[in-house]
Amino acid sequence: MDEKLIAPELPVQKDPLSTDFEKGWHKVFSCEDLEVNKAISIDDFATQIVVWRGADGIVRALDLFCKHMGASLACGEVDGNGIRCPFHAWRWNDEGNCDDIGYANKIPPKAKTRSWKVKEEDGSIMVWYDPEEV
Ligand code: FES
Repeated sequence: MDEKLIAPELPVQKDPLSTDFEKGWHKVFSCEDLEVNKAISIDDFATQIVVWRGADGIVRALDLFCKHMGASLACGEVDGNGIRCPFHAWRWNDEGNCDDIGYANKIPPKAKTRSWKVKEEDGSIMVWYDPEEV
């Protein structure tokens, strides 16, 4: 079999409890560099996250890798105020719930991911880290 046809291993979401991050707000990006309907990945936080600015202008953050099959949500599209996965188009809201699967009538109860508190302050996008909340 041609080894190029074998899918690579799924990415691993880093355990945020295995870092030495301290409890508090952490700057992850500049506000002005994140336009409405844009998403970015952040690697230098307690774990990898996707940060996006929804249609309403509010910034949100989730774990980067889709809980369905591991796609990077940062490669997806902002859809309204949610983020839609590039692989199978599941849409995730800012609470970490999948709220739309276009090809299915039911959303699996386990279709949940971790959400992160975000604020904008002094031109910076800040994400809250508290080891007791992850
Ligand atoms: S991997 Fe995200 S919807 Fe399938």
